[in-house]
Amino acid sequence: MQKFNKNIFTKNPVEKPSILVADDDKIIRQLFKRAFGEKNYNIYTAKDGYAALRKAKEKPFNLLIMDLKMPGINGVDVLEEVKKNNPHIEVIIITGYPTVELAVEAIKMGAFDFISKPFDIKRISFAISSCLEKQKLNIKKQNRLIQIEKMAAVGKLASGIAHEIRNPLAIILKGVELLEVNLSGEDGATKEYIEKIKWNVERANNIIVELLNFSRTSELKQQPLNICKLLDEAVDLARNQANLNNVTMSKDLPKKEVRIKGDYNLLRQAFFNLFINAVDAMPKGGKLWIRACREKESRIGKSKVMVVEVEDTGKGIPHDELSKIFDPFFTTKQPGKGTGLGLSIVHLIFERHKATIKAESQQGKGTKFIIRLLAS
Ligand SMILES: Nc1ncnc2c1ncn2[C@@H]1O[C@H](COP(=O)(O)OP(=O)(O)O)[C@@H](O)[C@H]1O
Ligand SMILES: [Mg+2]
Repeated sequence: MQKFNKNIFTKNPVEKPSILVADDDKIIRQLFKRAFGEKNYNIYTAKDGYAALRKAKEKPFNLLIMDLKMPGINGVDVLEEVKKNNPHIEVIIITGYPTVELAVEAIKMGAFDFISKPFDIKRISFAISSCLEKQKLNIKKQNRLIQIEKMAAVGKLASGIAHEIRNPLAIILKGVELLEVNLSGEDGATKEYIEKIKWNVERANNIIVELLNFSRTSELKQQPLNICKLLDEAVDLARNQANLNNVTMSKDLPKKEVRIKGDYNLLRQAFFNLFINAVDAMPKGGKLWIRACREKESRIGKSKVMVVEVEDTGKGIPHDELSKIFDPFFTTKQPGKGTGLGLSIVHLIFERHKATIKAESQQGKGTKFIIRLLAS
């Protein structure tokens, strides 16, 4: 049996949510089409339970709105079958004969809401929007969990491989250094080869260091720290690279120190990775802003949320790549230039700090990363 476990929201974010209305009463079907079809939803209809099952198999609907008493197969059985095929689907039950038992059974089977006829359009409209909102949140949460699991698996694999490769690389490097001494009188070509070997060993080593960093993110050493000082340091670390690319870095940080609890080295590394990516995105120069402030909206005293923005005027990220940038090994850089691990590490580090990161980008204009951290 076909399953629709895929994310029905991210498949095409501009597509309207699709709703299947199953009711043997034609007037009700038309009412839904008229009230909601033109606006925010794609409304499909089915005149009985079997038709609903058939249609739900053809298309992954976001929501099924269904009468409980229909000819043929009844609503509770339809609900069970539909949920088996598409666990993400939400169901709202409407019925002309509401009983407590029926309502309890429907909710137990996973129906989101139970509405009795005759109903008010406003009530239905509210039920639909809160139901779709809940669905969106659930799917987001699930995707995050999948992402964390994926990263943990990659981390384990990576650290295993890294340790294995480190020793042979060290031996190669020692051997080359020995050769270098012995061949000190040799011509330019030999020397050039030796340099190339050394450079490539170093490159391989760098990849390994990154892989090991990746797996180390699981060992958090939490301590109270001043986020402004940490950002200052991360900026200093990136300064050389920025200068080489003609990138000017501007900071807008709070004057007073802002304390958060976290792993100093890991957080500094996360911000450093973001800065280096931004610099990489501006090979012909540009601007990099690093801003930090407490979130404004809190009316009761100081907000506990610290927002850090890292914004560049680089080449931007195409829309279809934006959802992939945090995936391990996703890179658009030339072989040897990028490992595709930087942002996965960043994501993992923030995740472990219960912080969030999101990216906004406009191709050709620039990219902004927004990080929300818990301040004390
Ligand atoms: N500031 C940025 N501007 C444009 N593209 C970016 C930016 N940051 C990340 N990216 C994109 O995300 C990809 C993944 O980044 P990352 O995980 O750090 O790997 P890497 O830097 O090794 O390619 C990059 O290859 C690039 O395409
Ligand atoms: Mg990177």
